[in-house]
Amino acid sequence: MNTEPSAQPEPSAQPEPASPAPTSPAPLRERIAAELLAARERTAVLTGSVDDRDLTAQHSPLMSPLVWDLAHIGNQEELWLLRGVGGRDPMHPEIDPLYDAFEHPRSERPSLPLLPPAEARGYAHEVRGRVLDLLETTALDGPPLLRGGFVFGMIAQHEQQHDETMLITHQLRQGPPVLADPPPPPAPADAAALPAEVLVPGGPFTMGTSGEPWALDNERPAHQVHVPGFLLDTTPVTNGAYQRFITDGGYQDPRWWTPEGWEHRRRAGLEAPLFWSREGTGWLRRRFGSTEPVPDDEPVLHVSWYEADAYARWAGRRLPTEAEWEKAARHDPATGRSRRYPWGDADPTPAHANLGQRHLRPAPAGSYPAGASPQGVRQLMGDVWEWTASDFRPYPGFSAWPYREYSEVFFGDRYKVLRGGSFGVAPIACRGTFRNWDHPVRRQIFAGFRTARDAEPRHPGGA
Ligand code: AVJ
Ligand code: FE
Repeated sequence: MNTEPSAQPEPSAQPEPASPAPTSPAPLRERIAAELLAARERTAVLTGSVDDRDLTAQHSPLMSPLVWDLAHIGNQEELWLLRGVGGRDPMHPEIDPLYDAFEHPRSERPSLPLLPPAEARGYAHEVRGRVLDLLETTALDGPPLLRGGFVFGMIAQHEQQHDETMLITHQLRQGPPVLADPPPPPAPADAAALPAEVLVPGGPFTMGTSGEPWALDNERPAHQVHVPGFLLDTTPVTNGAYQRFITDGGYQDPRWWTPEGWEHRRRAGLEAPLFWSREGTGWLRRRFGSTEPVPDDEPVLHVSWYEADAYARWAGRRLPTEAEWEKAARHDPATGRSRRYPWGDADPTPAHANLGQRHLRPAPAGSYPAGASPQGVRQLMGDVWEWTASDFRPYPGFSAWPYREYSEVFFGDRYKVLRGGSFGVAPIACRGTFRNWDHPVRRQIFAGFRTARDAEPRHPGGA
């Protein structure tokens, strides 16, 4: 593995994996094989760049040992594809409970009798070999689970989701850098002159999807939502702006915080984003084993929902709702239709968004003009997950599919929705409709935010 940051111009960075566009010319079977391969190559980077001690260590009580994610990836693939689709017998039935995410919380996993690194690799490799054989002989139509290759796409997305989880573990791990770290492209010339916010006019739009073949259950079904006019930040909130909140005493003033947020801030002793430390009058951050000055022009990362919410109130604004975020990202005012991405229906390329672990950091605010929405909102996809004001709840007409434990058991007011994906999200696990969720206290995830405000005062005579 690379231990030196290697500067690479954007076009020659690692190729993007193919995406499951319904319009893609590649036959479905080849696309599935390519996505499974892309996920496995990334898993190999994340698990091959550290030694066996690091693979089995607990780098944080919030995370599994990397070797757990590796065998869990293989186990889910065996369960859904070899046993589910192929009707095969279990390869090692005794290990199933070890890799069931609901049997053991992450903090307990290091003390389980897990497969050691070589066995975990061997298991995932053997499952994959049999899956590629199965793919050749499986008809990708008929039963709903196979239609459009859904269950294969679900498993490729699952591996990529755990790859992002393992990337978070890498960020939490102590020690020198081990991952390739090419810098993102510099901000485009117009970044400094962008308007601070854009207007998204009021009116109905179609939220969610019924037709995207690999969309997960919580993104379904498509339904109409009326969204009153609002103004949304053109870019995510930057480190520079966030430092003004800190300098202005934002962490010391309960006015900006919800009661739960303030209580949490006090108890946890929060004073700045996770991984930041003071140096003189400025700030340093730790990032994948390097310590460096916090760059003012990058979107802020590693803040909890409580901090994002407090910042927004301090700024005289609020977090966007999930519906507002999706309308800004998908609604095409020219046609009234909701599209797959802010730029249209085409699959993401490296010109559209900072996705797929091509970079280990967000790009400067204002980057990726080719990925802007019709109204000019930038960086909705990639860079940082964006906290929204909304709790994680089912859409009208939701039904759990194919298993309750993907989404349904998490619905309610314990989780807030994040949208848009980070630099660590693969293109296949990222769509205008994709929904992520986490507890409002969480900060190790690659999350930032942008802010919004109502277009019309809600109370006549108001400011
Ligand atoms: C959708 C990212 C919250 O990692 O807990 C992985 C994805 N589900 N294995 C998670 C997931 C089952 C999930 N998130
Ligand atoms: Fe999982």
